[in-house]
Amino acid sequence: MTPSIRPRRLRSSAAWRRLARETTVTPAQLVLPMFVREGTSEPLPIGSMPGVVQHSLDSFRAELHRAATAGVGGVMLFGVPEQKDARGSGATDPQGILNVATRIAVAELGDALVVQTDLCLDEFTDHGHCGVLDAEGRVDNDASLERYREMALAQAEAGSALLGLSGMMDGQVAAVREALDAAGRTDTALLAYAAKYASAFYGPFREAVQSSLEGDRRTYQLDPGNRREGAREVALDLAEGADIVMVKPAMSYLDVLADAAASSPVPVWAYQVSGEYAMIEAAAAHGWIERERAIDESLIGILRAGADAVLTYWAIEAAERAVRA
Ligand code: PBG
Repeated sequence: MTPSIRPRRLRSSAAWRRLARETTVTPAQLVLPMFVREGTSEPLPIGSMPGVVQHSLDSFRAELHRAATAGVGGVMLFGVPEQKDARGSGATDPQGILNVATRIAVAELGDALVVQTDLCLDEFTDHGHCGVLDAEGRVDNDASLERYREMALAQAEAGSALLGLSGMMDGQVAAVREALDAAGRTDTALLAYAAKYASAFYGPFREAVQSSLEGDRRTYQLDPGNRREGAREVALDLAEGADIVMVKPAMSYLDVLADAAASSPVPVWAYQVSGEYAMIEAAAAHGWIERERAIDESLIGILRAGADAVLTYWAIEAAERAVRA
């Protein structure tokens, strides 16, 4: 018997494979996360994320221009403040580093890139948690919502187009939407980190933002075993008015991502997190995998699972390669 059905026909040449490809990376689907550090005149390397730095304001400007030239869709900004306190005052201070960086990005490249900001207290709190603490030292959900509302107004005021709600407090999307609308900020969009899991893959990020966290975030981030609960969190954030929902991390949660992509009426994004970046860079540095192929395959996998866009530290490089391909 010889087979009459031969899928290999469409794989037989590079030209065929290019034509038959179902999923490709386009620059506009990539969002670059960036760390901006207060009080430094030089960019500072992040040891566990080779190629990623804590930016000075000058290196930040230069990188923004590189991102725009490469055609990436947007940038997600994180601040690394000099001072931290219990309520994360730097997050709501108009002169706080994240708000300063946002104004720079919007002024210089707000037409070319969608400027986005992390809306979470952990970079600004001395205890490192994503919210404020109650008298017993537990993360106080509703008191944290009050801080998020203030932070949202500060970020909208600075010009952020899209607020990344990454704190995993219950009701955060509704609370922030209400605060923005009451202030007339109806154009500011909300990216809900809807299904954000308590993940070991955030490890290098903690170095990147010099996190003060002791302990973990398991009372607010999702348990890695829970797929149904991920879907529930997505549904809740949609009901609260999220403009975009996100799954995070990406690679170990592609089932959760595919569920969201199948049901969501709004765009679904994924965050390829610091540990996913570090793993590929480290293996490649040892010569154990082909670096560029592994990066591209990791992004294709996330897009194929259903992401409409991906936050990735390789955004510029992957965008440049996608254009050449
Ligand atoms: C919280 C936040 C985190 C990341 C993005 N936003 C850290 C955390 O939840 O512990 C992780 C991103 C990454 O690992 O690349 N502000």
